[in-house]
Amino acid sequence: MNQHAAATIYLDNNATTPLDPRVLAAMNRAWQDYGANPASQHAPGRRARRAIEEAREALIAMLGGRTTGMAADRLIFTSGGTEANHLALNGLLSPQQPARGLAISALEHPSIQGTAEYLRQQGIPIERLPVRTNGMLDLATLPALFDRPLEQRPQLISLMLASNETGVLQPVAEVATLARTADVLVHTDAVQAIGKVPVSFGELGVAAMTLAAHKFHGPIGIGGLLVRHEVQLQPQMFGGFQQGSLRPGTESAALAIGFQCALELWQQERTERAQRMQQLRDQLQSTLQSELPTSVVIGQEVLRTPHTLCISFPPLERQALVMALDLAGIACSTGSACASGSSETSPTLVAMGLPAEVVGSAIRFSLGAFATAPEVSEAANRIIKTVKQLQRAN
Ligand SMILES: Cc1ncc(COP(=O)(O)O)c(C=O)c1O
Repeated sequence: MNQHAAATIYLDNNATTPLDPRVLAAMNRAWQDYGANPASQHAPGRRARRAIEEAREALIAMLGGRTTGMAADRLIFTSGGTEANHLALNGLLSPQQPARGLAISALEHPSIQGTAEYLRQQGIPIERLPVRTNGMLDLATLPALFDRPLEQRPQLISLMLASNETGVLQPVAEVATLARTADVLVHTDAVQAIGKVPVSFGELGVAAMTLAAHKFHGPIGIGGLLVRHEVQLQPQMFGGFQQGSLRPGTESAALAIGFQCALELWQQERTERAQRMQQLRDQLQSTLQSELPTSVVIGQEVLRTPHTLCISFPPLERQALVMALDLAGIACSTGSACASGSSETSPTLVAMGLPAEVVGSAIRFSLGAFATAPEVSEAANRIIKTVKQLQRAN
């Protein structure tokens, strides 16, 4: 092994982000303070319960949900984004005769695509809403969907708030406004938007929203589904009364506190974090574009999350590129971590109608909140060198 190999630069924050040391410190204290089962009736159990409920309420408030009164919104803790997406689609689609279906955008994460496929096998009609080449949902197709007779309209639409691959922000609030008058529920997977751009559940007007703490420097192992107060949700797990029987199983006070702490830190530092990430992402993008003029940046015509850069280097093959970059000390990916490792082309980029050679060589760099200018400029040098080497060998 080369002992002088330079340290790896981590540009795969859309897969997961490193835990913020301040969150770790808060969790370390919580593991010690709340060792009892929060469902136990004794004093230590009640203390753990109180800590969880305080974290839940703080999270709902920070996410722009309602915390008080009869109309309080509910936050159901899950193991992460995948489980929350499963709970949303399965739990919001109440059995109806005849079954009204589910519409998802063609951009969705594999956890939504996979659940939709499962529901299709159970006889639920599924349709995919088209997207434009700029990476945004094609809103023009929606009026025809909502003008159909009620029994032919979907019961639920699932549209992500920000794409994990391109970072492109989706018109979720507009869809929710149109859907409300058409008796259609809207779920949004906000996993890649929270902790990157301001998000208000109340302003989005959706029925339910998926979250995951590990995408904004919180712990892996906790996420949630925020559900509007009056919306019915069917449980998908049974045999316990925790979380109103909607997601039974022992909850972790330490994970809930880590989740809360990570979101509080984002709230306190968000202007500075967003500015830094956007400035460094734009610097990386412009350096790569000027040094590698045949590169193609995907999604740059519209609003994107500040830290994501999806870029293609045709005609290089993206798997070979990611492996060569790994050897050069750059950790990045070909797209969703749940699909990477497979050689399947990105359904998101295909749905955008991009040329095959652009799709075939697209990779994703995603910055964290604590990225630095020297690190990003060193990353740009390594990427340029690696791409040029591969281009010469091609
Ligand atoms: C948009 C989106 N939704 C859902 C998930 C799944 O979240 P988790 O890894 O917490 O299960 C991810 C993770 O990559 C994601 O990017």
